[in-house]
Amino acid sequence: MHNSLLQAIGNTPLVKLNFDSPAQIYAKLEYLNPGGAVKDRSALYMIETAEKLGLLQPGGTIIDASSGNHGIAVAMIARIKGYRVIITVSEKISIEKLRTIQAYGAEVIVCPATALIDDPNSYHSVAVKLQKETPNSFMPNQYFNVVNAKAHETILGPEIWRQTNGTITHFFAGAGTGGTISGVGKFLKSQNPNIKINAIDSNNSFRSTNGQPKPYQIEGIGIDFDTPVLDHAILDGIMQVSDAQALDMLKILASDYGLLVGPSSGAVAYAVQEYAKNLTANDLVVFICGDSGRAYLSKNFYTDSKGYKLQIQPLVSDKYRQLIL
Ligand SMILES: Cc1ncc(COP(=O)(O)O)c(C=O)c1O
Repeated sequence: MHNSLLQAIGNTPLVKLNFDSPAQIYAKLEYLNPGGAVKDRSALYMIETAEKLGLLQPGGTIIDASSGNHGIAVAMIARIKGYRVIITVSEKISIEKLRTIQAYGAEVIVCPATALIDDPNSYHSVAVKLQKETPNSFMPNQYFNVVNAKAHETILGPEIWRQTNGTITHFFAGAGTGGTISGVGKFLKSQNPNIKINAIDSNNSFRSTNGQPKPYQIEGIGIDFDTPVLDHAILDGIMQVSDAQALDMLKILASDYGLLVGPSSGAVAYAVQEYAKNLTANDLVVFICGDSGRAYLSKNFYTDSKGYKLQIQPLVSDKYRQLIL
């Protein structure tokens, strides 16, 4: 029993998947957090750290840039704590995520999908400007605030260590801000320096393309600028995954494993599947499923080209047909 929804954040299950590998492979189902993503953890930690430091006062406004899930988490937490929230997002965001942020009563500003974060029109720059102009406001600033990684070092890392009884040998997560991989990685390495920590990036990101980024569909991950949140020192590798690889894996996870997860989880699972071909029965892999596929259903990632059968009976209205077809 919990006295607050905030206490229901965390303690998500680890579920074994039978990938084609002798290693034991577990998915960490972060989409089972109350806000639907791994970001519930870091948002709560950043907000409560700001409260303790006096950076966030009662009646204040929280403003931040988000690819969606952080915004959802901030909006949900702020609803419980009584703050006003403004979230800037990129036009890449799924309509489901945008509507979810609004459902929690937050204001949303949609910005163009710029290649560079320091472009004055980027969702990050717009949030920074707005925060400077808004009295009694606080910006968690997940892309540049190292408290983001600290959340995962303090809570998610120890949770995974406990759940695997200290037998984990490999950890994989997508890198967006880099908070998850860096925080969990730092904690796990402190327990056992031999644990391998692998970040997943989009093959079209700023980093992967040496500064010549191209658009990509995976939401939530992709290293598009230098951030102090991403701790390169604890990484053993950064694996690059294409949209096609991530989206193909996404369909397999749903149709063969019953895991309806978001594109970043598809990217991470694809990388794990490739890497795990060379592992042994002594290895235990944990990878992060950051959010749910329910947040992306309007993008048709799951049903495209799979030939799923959908029957529409003759008397169904034209309005519905247009919506679904
Ligand atoms: C949905 C989603 N968003 C974001 C991230 C990236 O997290 P971070 O910003 O901590 O790097 C992940 C990582 O797996 C994810 O699955």
